[in-house]
Amino acid sequence: MADLKIQPRRDEDMSACVNALSAVHHAGLLEAWVALDGREALGHVAITRTAPGLARGTGLPAGQLASVARLFVTPSARRYGVAQALLAAAEAAAAACGLRLALEVEDGGKAAISLYERSGWRHVGTAPGDWTTVDGRTALMHAYLAPARNP
Ligand SMILES: CC(C)(COP(=O)(O)OP(=O)(O)OC[C@H]1O[C@@H](n2cnc3c(N)ncnc32)[C@H](O)[C@@H]1OP(=O)(O)O)[C@@H](O)C(=O)NCCC(=O)NCCS
Repeated sequence: MADLKIQPRRDEDMSACVNALSAVHHAGLLEAWVALDGREALGHVAITRTAPGLARGTGLPAGQLASVARLFVTPSARRYGVAQALLAAAEAAAAACGLRLALEVEDGGKAAISLYERSGWRHVGTAPGDWTTVDGRTALMHAYLAPARNP
């Protein structure tokens, strides 16, 4: 890391950034889904292995869990049930492998928190995160566990 340099991102850095993000994305990734309307991507969700800290909060071993990651829906497609459909696909795939879904959501993610609570997810703990939000707060991370589902 002798050549490590931090600098403002330039347009010509974008392709290297996409490659780096792809490598991060694939580390620990189990499966991912996209919501498509024709060729247009409206949303995405992935499931990953579960970190020990999150597993502890759920009371279940990490090996019995998968974590929801990178759930998003494009602004114009929101409130049409796209995220609910993506979560249903992730839950069904996890249940087929005998896994239960868990996740962490930052306190500012009010829409996401409403979605999880409305979908029957159980709040299992809250702890400060080790990062700062864009509005300058120390992150506050809420942990949730999905309802048990039959495979
Ligand atoms: C959170 C997010 C994925 C929800 O996507 P969505 O497709 O709009 O969600 P759905 O249409 O499936 O919503 C299902 C239910 O969740 C709740 N909900 C979703 N968005 C809500 C909002 N903005 N305010 C209040 N409740 C909301 C509602 O109960 C909704 O049902 P209803 O529309 O019948 O009232 C989307 O807002 C998003 O991409 N946000 C930014 C990224 C993000 O926060 N990702 C999650 C990180 S943990």
